[in-house]
Amino acid sequence: MLTLAIETSCDETSVAVVEDGRKVLSNVIHSQTDLHKDFGGVVPELAARDHLERLPALLDLAMKKAGIRPGDLDQLAVTRGPGLIGCLLVGVGVGEGLATAWDTPLTGVNHLWGHVYAAMLSRPDLEPPLLGLVVSGAHSDLVRMPAHGRFEVIGRTRDDAAGEAFDKAARMLGLGFPGGPALDKLARKGDPKRQPLPRPSLPGLEYSFSGLKTALLYRLRDMGDSITDQDRADLAASFERSVVESLLEKLDQALDATPVGEVVVAGGVAANTLLRRRAAEVVGSRARLTMPPLELCTDNAAMIAAAGYYGGSHPADVDPSLSW
Ligand code: KG4
Ligand code: ZN
Repeated sequence: MLTLAIETSCDETSVAVVEDGRKVLSNVIHSQTDLHKDFGGVVPELAARDHLERLPALLDLAMKKAGIRPGDLDQLAVTRGPGLIGCLLVGVGVGEGLATAWDTPLTGVNHLWGHVYAAMLSRPDLEPPLLGLVVSGAHSDLVRMPAHGRFEVIGRTRDDAAGEAFDKAARMLGLGFPGGPALDKLARKGDPKRQPLPRPSLPGLEYSFSGLKTALLYRLRDMGDSITDQDRADLAASFERSVVESLLEKLDQALDATPVGEVVVAGGVAANTLLRRRAAEVVGSRARLTMPPLELCTDNAAMIAAAGYYGGSHPADVDPSLSW
């Protein structure tokens, strides 16, 4: 079964063709980083227009790379939400148009399920039940997935998402956009012990990163112009450590409370160097840990195709949903 998927929820335009929900035949991604970098963040209106301009060529390229024609497709999948509404509308509109033109069924996919399904593309034998930590620019969710297409959120953030916290910290440290990867790079030169920052810890399985962000802001204010490049690297390392240890503390608790054989850590923040290393240590031998390769951690359409294959929503429900 061949699925063609479209992902346009934020600032990556992507089209992919996936066979039987697991084998990636093509996964073309255009990142809008250059378009938004002067603004220090994603400008929704510019993002939506760019998706619309790029999609036709990306569709052609994805099918060419996969060696297929529209008549070969069994299913179309499109990200329905959560995401930026104008951006989602472009993907869904194009998906609906193609579904009509090609007489192919269309399914709407939850973007966060997509991030979990990215792990299945990298490990064809991976099956639920699993425990997932989905960490992206807008979400920090702990989920249980008892079976394909079924997700239960058991923990989430009260305020900022982990990726958002990294992006804001990076901006405070003068690192520009996108901040997460830049902060990751700088942190490798720093020592977290030299500039300790608080480690957020709420009861239960909730996260909160706004207090940590404020602590960094005040520290930078106190240091003023006397700050050195080494201080910046130390602060990046310390901030990163606080976020990562907080994320993993709850994963550890959830795994203890309800043991399960498979753990997935996914989403853009799962590209983080320290998170990848520490997650392996924290999960240890209690479960098998899968973290998608870097190119499948950040937004891409292959993960949407996989999620669509295994249980996107009913075809009638493709309307964009901001907060799904
Ligand atoms: O999943 P994603 O590509 O888009 C959303 O669905 O939000 O995640 C993007 C987020 C951004 O906040 C970005 O800064 C963060 O993932 N990110 C990272 C790294 N690479 C991407 N954060 C920390 N370290 C990284 N290496
Ligand atoms: Zn994402």
